[in-house]
Amino acid sequence: MKILVTGGAGFIGSHLCERLIAEGHEVIALDDLSTGKKAFLAPLAEHPNFTFVHGSGLDRSLLNEVMEGCEAVFHLAAVLGVKNTVENPLKVIEGNIDVTRNVLELAFPRKIKVIFSSTSEVYGKNELLPFHENSSRVLGPTTKNRWCYATAKALDEHMCFAYADKGLPVTVLRYFNTYGPRATSTQYGGVVPKFIAAALKDKPITVYGDGSQTRCFTFVDDNVTGTMLSLDRKVDHHVLNIGNDHSISINQLAVKIKEMTGSQSTIIHVPYEKAYGIGYEDTPNRMPDLTKTKKLLNYVPTIGIDEGLKRTIEWYRAGITWPREE
Ligand SMILES: NC(=O)c1ccc[n+]([C@@H]2O[C@H](COP(=O)([O-])OP(=O)(O)OC[C@H]3O[C@@H](n4cnc5c(N)ncnc54)[C@H](O)[C@@H]3O)[C@@H](O)[C@H]2O)c1
Repeated sequence: MKILVTGGAGFIGSHLCERLIAEGHEVIALDDLSTGKKAFLAPLAEHPNFTFVHGSGLDRSLLNEVMEGCEAVFHLAAVLGVKNTVENPLKVIEGNIDVTRNVLELAFPRKIKVIFSSTSEVYGKNELLPFHENSSRVLGPTTKNRWCYATAKALDEHMCFAYADKGLPVTVLRYFNTYGPRATSTQYGGVVPKFIAAALKDKPITVYGDGSQTRCFTFVDDNVTGTMLSLDRKVDHHVLNIGNDHSISINQLAVKIKEMTGSQSTIIHVPYEKAYGIGYEDTPNRMPDLTKTKKLLNYVPTIGIDEGLKRTIEWYRAGITWPREE
């Protein structure tokens, strides 16, 4: 199958491209390299079924061109990260809503299947765990930039379903915190890469808040498995949680990474306000209900946090040479 991956040079996108190629698909990766890195696609560079196109999903004519002949689009290109969300809401809104609208509008006349990468952030600060796909969204006020990413992704989901109602095959995936090799961006919020980078340098591991907040971390291979499975047409018009349902507190994560790296780092706690400004709200706990994804796609995450962290730390230790953000 000929497939377009937007955001294909990103952390998850580059792993997805590799898996698609390994399974015999023809793949075009479109990426503006704003956070993605061409080096992530180096293993595929010479493959006859792989093409990299440097450009933006905001460029409609380019997007139209790269979609030609495709049977599916995995739409991962997005502007994300807490730092962007708090400091650059316009970039987040444009980078999510405008690009998704372009993808859907151009896919529609050709009936190209769209698999949209949404986020567990859309559940916001809902306190009823686990999050089922039909759980309510509980978001803070629009005066807090912090909620613009969740809102933009939720609006993207609405657009997906509006097109699905008109007959476009669309599946919406809500990813829960994903980590693994190539999750390099310590700048835009990934807690696992931040902690590993600090631990390997024996620098303080900084926990925001009191660290009792919990997350369910998903190793990237499990994310890619769920994403690939959603090519199945029986999940057209569905929203599905993609994640791992084992939870860990951020304090426990910090201790685990310190121990696994044999680091001399101290673990320090910093109030959210100091990091992201007064009034910043975090979501206290997040856990996916995977019942629907298991039932429809037979999706079961297989890589636990210890094995996933081991592989991620190994990748960091291998001293990969492309520039890392500090
Ligand atoms: N990593 C996670 O934990 C997580 C959790 C929930 C949802 N997601 C979603 O998964 C997707 C992939 O995230 P990721 O973690 O790999 O982040 P990433 O930043 O590594 O990937 C996004 C990619 O999109 C590219 N991009 C951004 N704007 C673009 C544009 N206008 N045109 C073309 N390319 C553009 C970036 O250069 C980057 O390569 C995103 O849609 C994100 O919202 C990720």
